[in-house]
Amino acid sequence: MRRKLIVGNWKMNGSIASNQLLLQGIVAGVKNLPHADYVLCVPYPYFHQAQTLLQHSNVAWGAQNLSANEDTALTGSVSPSMLVDYGCTYVIVGHSERRILSHETDDTAAARFNAALKAGLTPIFCMGESKEERESDWTEYIVGRQLDSIIRRFGANLLSKAVLAYEPLWAVGTDTPATPAQAQEVHQFIRKRIARCDAEVAAQVRILYGGSLHPNNAKAIFAMPDIDGGLVGRCSLDAQAFVKICQSIQ
Ligand code: PGA
Repeated sequence: MRRKLIVGNWKMNGSIASNQLLLQGIVAGVKNLPHADYVLCVPYPYFHQAQTLLQHSNVAWGAQNLSANEDTALTGSVSPSMLVDYGCTYVIVGHSERRILSHETDDTAAARFNAALKAGLTPIFCMGESKEERESDWTEYIVGRQLDSIIRRFGANLLSKAVLAYEPLWAVGTDTPATPAQAQEVHQFIRKRIARCDAEVAAQVRILYGGSLHPNNAKAIFAMPDIDGGLVGRCSLDAQAFVKICQSIQ
């Protein structure tokens, strides 16, 4: 039985003052919800604040990106061991916003994935197709290619130490979530593709859905057999909404 996981992705939002209320609200709201794991991926400058406010709670914290390199001359980058230094346990890798706006490729995402694992972090590896790709019936081709970029390099076995996230680009930040059936179809495809290499890992790996998750749709989406939780963007900036999404698992 896979344990559900809800991850908040704050993206580039927050301030010391607003984070304080948000973190306290989420901690209080999920404290009595023992049936799932919770993670908040916060911007780098707020790691210390997240660590201080979350360390005695059932909410873990993580990053939204990391360098594939350790100590070196790379102005503006943050290494895996720096994340570990701040008690981070998770890191998002290959989010579509980074693939599109920051020129992340399958190669660079795979390098970050590997670097995260080497540092003992759990990568949350994102995959998903654009609207045009879905309309052209390319969803499985695109998601399959992104998944294979990891399996071919590192083998399916390493996926047992990772979390996967299906995030259709047309659903991220749009108020047009995938229907539970649409999401389930792709999650099942991902799991079957992993099973071709390693049935045990396929049965065990957690695959999150992300893209316009909301208290109104989370319950139906999380009820799908191959969906093991969610990657939540905007609703993770509102303690009440995030907690309601977490409650929909109970
Ligand atoms: P959203 O973002 O929930 O605001 O659609 C999801 C994500 O990008 O992880």
